[in-house]
Amino acid sequence: MAEPLTVPSLTAGTAFVLRPWELSDLPLVREASEDAYIPLITTIPSPYSDEAAQVYVRRQWEQAATGSGYPFVIARVRDRRPVGSIGLWLKDAAEGRATVGYWTAAPGRRQGATGAALRTVTAWALHELRLARLHMLIEPWNDASVRTAESAGYRREGLLRGWQRIGGVRRDMLMYSRLDDD
Ligand SMILES: CC(C)(COP(=O)(O)OP(=O)(O)OC[C@H]1O[C@@H](n2cnc3c(N)ncnc32)[C@H](O)[C@@H]1OP(=O)(O)O)[C@@H](O)C(=O)NCCC(=O)NCCS
Repeated sequence: MAEPLTVPSLTAGTAFVLRPWELSDLPLVREASEDAYIPLITTIPSPYSDEAAQVYVRRQWEQAATGSGYPFVIARVRDRRPVGSIGLWLKDAAEGRATVGYWTAAPGRRQGATGAALRTVTAWALHELRLARLHMLIEPWNDASVRTAESAGYRREGLLRGWQRIGGVRRDMLMYSRLDDD
């Protein structure tokens, strides 16, 4: 088992903060569970139950405790409201690579939350953790995610055909990456 990780609190622009998951974040899990897409690409429970949501939050703690990665909640500074999630996953960290995943529930979208979160995690991972390459996979139709990645300096590398099953269908995925010397 890899070393346990401590998820830090990080400032994301002036309006958002990244912080560890808390059991008080169940309303965010509920919002995400009602989304048509988020439960397909994450382990967010759908349909929602308090019990399943608590299991989800504890699983995020477990991911850090077992060294799998850093799961963050994206919260608004103004009222501390949790709006979304971003994670840095370290399966290939020994090779200097990490994967980033993110979602923001519908009520918090188009307010710059995920873009700010991704820019923060990217700078932290490249400069503090000294990773060499960060990447994510995005479905070609997902303009919102493509724009979010590009706003944080990620570049399109290519299309991976039939890469993975999502919602029971094999999907093509675009590979986006950012290097430490980009
Ligand atoms: C993709 C997602 C995370 C974007 O979150 P968000 O908080 O609304 O994004 P932001 O407000 O920070 O916007 C970031 C950029 O994307 C653009 N954008 C956001 N939503 C968009 C949309 N629906 N269509 C086109 N562009 C969009 C913004 O204009 C901004 O671009 P800019 O910096 O050039 O102005 C959110 O829509 C989501 O959670 N979708 C479902 C889950 C998902 O697809 N996750 C990613 C899987 S790869």
